[in-house]
Amino acid sequence: MIQISPSILSADFSRLGDEVKEICELGADYIHVDVMDGHFVPNISFGAGVMESLNEISSVPYDVHLMIEDPDKYLDTFVTDKTEFITVHQEACVHLDRTIEHIKSLGNGVIKAGVSLNPATPVDLLSCIIDKVDLVLIMSVNPGFGGQKFIPQSIDKVRELSRIREEKNLKFLIEVDGGVNGDNAHLLKEAGADILVAGSYIFKSGDRKKAIESIK
Ligand code: DX5
Ligand code: ZN
Repeated sequence: MIQISPSILSADFSRLGDEVKEICELGADYIHVDVMDGHFVPNISFGAGVMESLNEISSVPYDVHLMIEDPDKYLDTFVTDKTEFITVHQEACVHLDRTIEHIKSLGNGVIKAGVSLNPATPVDLLSCIIDKVDLVLIMSVNPGFGGQKFIPQSIDKVRELSRIREEKNLKFLIEVDGGVNGDNAHLLKEAGADILVAGSYIFKSGDRKKAIESIK
């Protein structure tokens, strides 16, 4: 079954702990943590401190999505008992190979390394490092905001990645982020996605349980 990673960017920040507790109980597989710096993307969200304050509350691991410039400077601050993936943007890393190795060295080697691609970045730019990553995150909106419209070309990128994974006999996971809903989830799953991120579709829904079920 496809895994679901609700993005807390669309949660009610005034009661974030309760929001995380509820979403875990409703079947989240991960908590998607969207970190934005106001430079790489035109928005500022929150940092590692907010995430850490949820450690006792979340019953599922964190899937950390860093939309920040120069991520190496801050990587270690995102390591907690709950951190499973730390994902950086290909477009934000001049020395991507080094950054991937850096992530994999964290937490005594238990942290998994992800790389994300913006909608305009082709999959083949990952060809030299694809055998080193644990996860590829395909952005299906331009990063920076929740609630944007899904870009359908992302489905082709998922299909291409899935083909590469099979051809090279690799094990990385494919995650998709942005505008995911009950209508496009099955297309992404058929194309080869393993984890779907959803923010507004879940948190802004009147029936969150149903929203999660319709994606799964
Ligand atoms: C966008 C973020 C996404 C976003 C998803 O920059 O990386 O994770 O919160 O939100 P929705 O599902 O509303 O597009
Ligand atoms: Zn995200």
